[in-house]
Amino acid sequence: MITKEFNEELKARIDIADVISSYVPLKKSGRNLVGLCPFHNERSPSFSVMRENGFFHCFGCGAGGDVITFIQKIENLDYVDAVKLLAQRAGIEVPEDASDSGMGKLKNRIYEANREAARFFHRMLYSPDGKQGLDYLRKRGLTEKTIIHFGLGYSPKDRFALVNHLQSKGFSKNEIVQANLANVSKNGHSYDRFSDRVMFPIIDMRGNVIAFGGRIMSDIKPKYLNTSDTPVFNKSRNLYSLQFAKKKANGQLILVEGYMDVIALHQAGFENAVATLGTALTDDQAKIIKRYSEEVVICYDADEAGQKATQRAIGILRPMGMRVKVLTVPNGKDPDEFMRSYGEQGSSRFRMLLEKSGNDFEYRMSKLRSQFNTEIPEQKVEFLTKAAGLLSELENPVEQDVYISQLSRDLEVDKNAIRQLVEKNSRRHYRQMKKQEQRAAHEKLSGVSDNLNREKRSNLRAASAEEALISMMIYDPDVAIKIAGSVTPDIFVTSTNRRIFEMLKKRVDNGEGVEPDDLSGYFTTDEIEGIVKMLVSHQREKDPYAAAEAYTQILVDQSTRITPEKAAEADNDAIMEELRKKKERKRKPNQENRL
Ligand code: CTP
Ligand code: MN
Repeated sequence: MITKEFNEELKARIDIADVISSYVPLKKSGRNLVGLCPFHNERSPSFSVMRENGFFHCFGCGAGGDVITFIQKIENLDYVDAVKLLAQRAGIEVPEDASDSGMGKLKNRIYEANREAARFFHRMLYSPDGKQGLDYLRKRGLTEKTIIHFGLGYSPKDRFALVNHLQSKGFSKNEIVQANLANVSKNGHSYDRFSDRVMFPIIDMRGNVIAFGGRIMSDIKPKYLNTSDTPVFNKSRNLYSLQFAKKKANGQLILVEGYMDVIALHQAGFENAVATLGTALTDDQAKIIKRYSEEVVICYDADEAGQKATQRAIGILRPMGMRVKVLTVPNGKDPDEFMRSYGEQGSSRFRMLLEKSGNDFEYRMSKLRSQFNTEIPEQKVEFLTKAAGLLSELENPVEQDVYISQLSRDLEVDKNAIRQLVEKNSRRHYRQMKKQEQRAAHEKLSGVSDNLNREKRSNLRAASAEEALISMMIYDPDVAIKIAGSVTPDIFVTSTNRRIFEMLKKRVDNGEGVEPDDLSGYFTTDEIEGIVKMLVSHQREKDPYAAAEAYTQILVDQSTRITPEKAAEADNDAIMEELRKKKERKRKPNQENRL
């Protein structure tokens, strides 16, 4: 657990504006600082840093939190690691017990077990048992240097080799199983997960071994066996070899499908290659990619599955504002096969492909074109209609003009005719975008759509009063004590806010702080985001005590109110009472409005 003293010191030493401006250029605007949100793609700044309250909030995408949440989100770290990074930055020592919580401890043990396993596999590669593995890797063209650079290894045939080794090093059966290095048999014995495979350790940005991929050396299936998700590993939030690639990215990453593709590219000098881990590209991975580059070259297999995956990846990366290119390796090869088939020349040939790889627009256009036989007038028209749709999505008018001219020459169609078609599409596209934006903005402003609190939509009035109470507690410690002492959680209507309130109340009752930067260890990043959103939409009250009472009254009214569902089981007296209250509320419309 991170101690209170440590937290205080960290808060004192760290200025949220300093930290954030090392990632996002910020400008002063009134009492706040504003900039372009790093968590979504935007052109006008809606990202604010409220220095005095110690939190940030994006009015565009709703991202928000304190400085720790910011680091968690932008560096893709968990809470403890985000704190460590900030501490390092501030030059303060993290107390040893910082990660002493049960989960933190287990995670550390898993990292250690993985590291030991990686060493073991690597050593085995050079043992007599591992000769087959070493031969295999050499046969696939890997040099000694590459094998060492990637820490490749071999898992012995003996299904107890690693389990025995780790146990001799003091790892418990539970730790080994939690690391997914072993499985447990029906009669309770644990045995190695990986056996007789060449091993690819997967390493995170901080150099921890977080998982393994293991390739069989024959045709037995599955070809690759990977670590399942563990407390330290989630396959959809990591990328293979990013720890190397980020240093060489220089604005561009090459995205390939497999471990061997990455390794072959690195060996040939393309050290900015990364791969997903046996799944299609996820949103989380795309966000990580965006953090380290502006341009992605997708270089998937030429087979149908690879092409589908390419389209899908474009669809994820493009809307995030990334430049996307597509490199298709000729003759249906994957990058690894390509490198090997050209030997010495592989590198220069690949560089040529890289240089002439088209942007995603050209890729999509050529895909579209291949579906039609433009010699047939009917199909030509159909193609042009669809092409105009694609062209209308281009935002740069010069770019649009270049491609319209090209199409006009290629198909011998009047340029103006194509342009008209494109403009028609543009207008439609624009109207749709506009509508969507308006709807989103409206929902956001009215607070109707709320990802955290799904019950809000149908309980707007109560939820809003709940949020006001929560905000007041966070703004003012004295008010927090008053509210914690007089309000009981059971009058909260929505369960999300009730949970948040219970947590705040518990902290206040224990004499702990509830300011924004006291909270990040206790709530998830999503909850913190929700709390910051509440703060942004509920300003400080002039007379918080009176306001607290009024909001509490709203909740009391609402929670005793009879909904149609409740009415079915309520007795007559309760219903009469409710009707009486309703009348009363109508008689005092002013009060109703004020709240
Ligand atoms: N993969 C996997 N499990 C499988 C097959 C594939 O996790 N059973 C993942 C691996 O990460 C692999 C990637 O998908 O690297 C690409 O798979 P594939 O194209 O089939 O393999 P290659 O990378 O070409 O592997 P190799 O060259 O060793 O045959
Ligand atoms: Mn391959």
